[in-house]
Amino acid sequence: MNDITNPAASRLEAPVVIPVEAYVSEAYVRAEGERLWPKVWQIACRVEEIPKVGDYVTYDILDESIIVTRTAPDRIQGFYNVCLHRGRRLTEGCGHTAQFYCRFHGWRWNLDGENAFVLDREDWGEALTNENLRMKQVRVDTWGGWVWINMDPDCEPLLDYLKPASSLLDPFELEKMRYRWRQWLNFPCNWKTALEAFNESYHARATHPQLTKWVDLIYWSRTAGRHACHGVATPREGGAAGGSGFGGVNVRDGQDPRTAAAEMMLEMEQTLDATTTRTIIEAAQRLPQELPPGTPAELVAAHMMASAARDDAARGVVWPALDPEKTAEAGFDWHLFPNSVILPGVTFALCYRARPNGADPNSCIFEVYVIERFPEGEEPKTEWVYEPDPTEEKWRLILSQDFQNMPKVQQGMKSRGFPGARPSPRQEVAIIQFHRMLAQYIGTGAPEAIR
Ligand code: FES
Ligand SMILES: [Fe+2]
Repeated sequence: MNDITNPAASRLEAPVVIPVEAYVSEAYVRAEGERLWPKVWQIACRVEEIPKVGDYVTYDILDESIIVTRTAPDRIQGFYNVCLHRGRRLTEGCGHTAQFYCRFHGWRWNLDGENAFVLDREDWGEALTNENLRMKQVRVDTWGGWVWINMDPDCEPLLDYLKPASSLLDPFELEKMRYRWRQWLNFPCNWKTALEAFNESYHARATHPQLTKWVDLIYWSRTAGRHACHGVATPREGGAAGGSGFGGVNVRDGQDPRTAAAEMMLEMEQTLDATTTRTIIEAAQRLPQELPPGTPAELVAAHMMASAARDDAARGVVWPALDPEKTAEAGFDWHLFPNSVILPGVTFALCYRARPNGADPNSCIFEVYVIERFPEGEEPKTEWVYEPDPTEEKWRLILSQDFQNMPKVQQGMKSRGFPGARPSPRQEVAIIQFHRMLAQYIGTGAPEAIR
């Protein structure tokens, strides 16, 4: 039963090779600092992190640091995090404040960037004005429950930048989700090497062999504006992919989709703690009692999700109305250019953000977080947890498996024996697109024909 097809599934891109410079060159890191990061919309934080006026979060990218802060109940603003006296960084991390206060000589600014105090200001005569003492702003907008920043004053509006990802992802109502957990660490690899472990699923069979006990899948991958997405195309050898996205039930020939779904949901909780919820897991456990043997995978998936939706509604979590066709078109994994990957589900999403860690092309900051819809008032209190140990014990099985590849890829790419990356023209189009877009910003490193 190969009926979960998508037009993109049969499409093949021209095979290309991606030059290695984008991953290993210090000059390329500098070029990103000049031509990429100051020009693109980036996720600074979730809106929920700054609920009250005076709450702020700093977002650091290479040498730049941005403060995003709520300056009125309905207004979020962004400023360069630097004192306009002699350049001390004003603040760090996140917190709540009435004013930004420089610890060096005590200059102060109001939340909206207006200067509030200069010690012995008269010594400057008329040279310091309210205007030239104002903190320099960056563009800020919100979408999907995230606060986005852009340092380019002439940038296009966020929603235009995100097209068509925004319209395909809007039905998931990501803005109604709140953090469930969030962890981060540094990796000895380029930020792109890290992110590219998560914008394709071609690696699933070799890296996560335990997941193929239900079905071994081929994936489609396609561009979407400057972004890209991928989803399930078809089973590789027999079996059924029933339903789409994370509400789908996949089985090998001869497997009972009822028990397979029950086992799979539990296993995802134990080995990833993402891409499902307690409600769905419990609905899956009831499938063998509620459905007769022989129920096809697609009906099993529909029953599981309908019953989970009822249970969630009873506790105050009303599911968004998702159009199955649109959901299939959206796939289950989005790379939002340049540095976020989002795996959306009906009431949850698994998200990744990667950033360079200083000027070293071999080091990155990597963040993983799960957001979920909770009954109002029952959102858990979370904070960023630094978890440097990339083991199964600290990150669970699936991420620990992914984490093993990333530093090894970074090492391997430096070999004289490596001709450049050759992503799958069907299943890793997101990676090809990533480097096409990067080349547009940077001016070098475009994918080339394989010779
Ligand atoms: S550097 Fe900030 S007050 Fe002097
Ligand atoms: Fe993986």
